[in-house]
Amino acid sequence: MAAMTRALLLLFALAIRSAGGQQRVHNVFDFHAAGDGKTDDAQAFLGTWQAACSDAGEPVVAVPGGRAFLLSQVSFQGPCKSPITVKLDGNIVAPNHIWTKEAANLLTFLGVDHLTLDGNGGIDGQGAIWWDCYNRKKCHARPILLGFARCNNLTVRRIHLKDSADKHMTLFQCSQVNVDSVSVTAPADSPNTDGITVALSNNTYISNTSIQTGDDCVSVLSYTKNITVTQSRCGPGHGISVGSLGRSETAMVEQITVSNCSFIGTMTGVRIKSWQGGKGYAKGFLFQSLNMTEVQYPIVIDQFYCPQGNCPIKHGGVAISDVRFIDIQGTSSEQEAIRLLCSQSVHCQGIYLSNINLSWVNHTSPANATILNAHGSTGGMVVPRIQFSDFL
Ligand SMILES: *[C@@H]1O[C@H](CO)[C@@H](O)[C@H](O)[C@H]1NC(C)=O
Ligand SMILES: *[C@@H]1O[C@H](CO)[C@@H](O)[C@H](O)[C@H]1NC(C)=O
Ligand SMILES: *[C@@H]1O[C@H](CO)[C@@H](O)[C@H](O)[C@H]1NC(C)=O
Ligand SMILES: *[C@@H]1O[C@H](CO)[C@@H](O)[C@H](O)[C@H]1NC(C)=O
Ligand SMILES: *[C@@H]1O[C@H](CO)[C@@H](O)[C@H](O)[C@H]1NC(C)=O
Ligand SMILES: *[C@@H]1O[C@H](CO)[C@@H](O)[C@H](O)[C@H]1NC(C)=O
Ligand SMILES: *[C@@H]1O[C@H](CO)[C@@H](O)[C@H](O)[C@H]1NC(C)=O
Ligand SMILES: *[C@@H]1O[C@H](CO)[C@@H](O)[C@H](O)[C@H]1NC(C)=O
Ligand SMILES: *[C@@H]1O[C@H](CO)[C@@H](O)[C@H](O)[C@H]1NC(C)=O
Repeated sequence: MAAMTRALLLLFALAIRSAGGQQRVHNVFDFHAAGDGKTDDAQAFLGTWQAACSDAGEPVVAVPGGRAFLLSQVSFQGPCKSPITVKLDGNIVAPNHIWTKEAANLLTFLGVDHLTLDGNGGIDGQGAIWWDCYNRKKCHARPILLGFARCNNLTVRRIHLKDSADKHMTLFQCSQVNVDSVSVTAPADSPNTDGITVALSNNTYISNTSIQTGDDCVSVLSYTKNITVTQSRCGPGHGISVGSLGRSETAMVEQITVSNCSFIGTMTGVRIKSWQGGKGYAKGFLFQSLNMTEVQYPIVIDQFYCPQGNCPIKHGGVAISDVRFIDIQGTSSEQEAIRLLCSQSVHCQGIYLSNINLSWVNHTSPANATILNAHGSTGGMVVPRIQFSDFL
């Protein structure tokens, strides 16, 4: 009888827990975080993480607001016992000195499934000393601010990332990712400070972000499928880029959508870039409902990517096909608003442009388009006019 009552009580307790409300909060202050921005709180964060990660009751890691937490390199590892939420309301700051000579992340979430990172807080990479060191050719490797690897079912919401030494956020080998309302800021001249980089990942949805950095707002690299960027604002920065592809890997990229985004003062708008001689494919792109404001080159496919110059001419290239540019309007700051530069040996196929209206800002002469080895069609109004290559 008593056993049965206990069992019923247990069931009742479980029911309450699954109805919410019973999530245990693991607060970094309970693990002796100083939160003064000066004392290294890495051990406190790791202790909190370990407690939460072994808690089976959908735990929350709390990083309270109004405080700054100095963290040196920390890796939060999974698998965890249940879905886990990190509520980041405080500000994490990186050490203000050169702390690594090797490729590293400041913060890493490795092998953690069903993770939510949410809050009004942020992470400040204190990148200035690293950019200076890099510009003086003294620092070759610089740390990425926030790296996610081997994750499934990840949500990153609202947090603010700032002044990373290198890229701000990376997703490697991740699936079912939702990045929502995240903002990223770094100076326009800070080197390689990409906003969000996605590789080896699929089913990723990036929305309502605002990204202002010194490099790509979002970059999509190889082994990616079904990646969407929508309702986002980019600039200053280099635009939203796919690639560079095919430098050393066999490119595999498909089902990439960029929609409802605005680009302000960026170097490119939407771009696919690959190296000469590359292998593999990139196919199934939709670039739709985009607003360009003084973008140098709003629409770009570049099969001759060669950032340092002096690339030898090579045969072959990543096969680019099925690329649609629809409803793209605004202004370019260079006359050449559209550049579709495809390889002589592997032409671009299935390019479609429709309802494009780009003008050269502050000039009375119209914008123009350069098309090389690209095949496709147009619909509706397309300004500047496109002349596809005649022969296959
Ligand atoms: C994804 O994670 C959330 C918690 O963030 C969880 O509620 C949901 O069940 C997970 N979805 C799947 C398919 O596992
Ligand atoms: C999606 O990505 C995950 C993680 O990289 C991978 O394990 C999985 O095989 C991928 N699925 C597809 C359909 O590509
Ligand atoms: C989009 O993000 C901004 C903050 O950058 C936020 O104020 C706004 O509520 C978000 N909108 C939606 C629909 O989530
Ligand atoms: C693409 O990814 C989204 C999540 O971002 C998912 O909801 C959708 O089902 C995926 N589509 C396909 C065809 O896999
Ligand atoms: C763009 O945004 C509008 C309103 O914000 C929405 O109605 C529309 O469905 C979106 N279109 C795409 C392609 O995302
Ligand atoms: C495009 O952006 C410009 C500058 O921000 C803005 O004035 C204009 O209203 C936008 N157009 C559309 C269609 O959203
Ligand atoms: C275009 O003209 C406006 C107004 O004079 C000015 O603010 C802007 O900087 C100019 N843009 C370029 C790219 O010259
Ligand atoms: C487009 O404009 C650029 C820059 O003014 C010029 O070099 C190029 O020859 C023009 N291309 C065409 C096809 O007119
Ligand atoms: C194209 O853009 C120009 C400059 O923004 C504008 O004056 C013109 O009305 C637009 N044309 C159409 C058909 O929308």
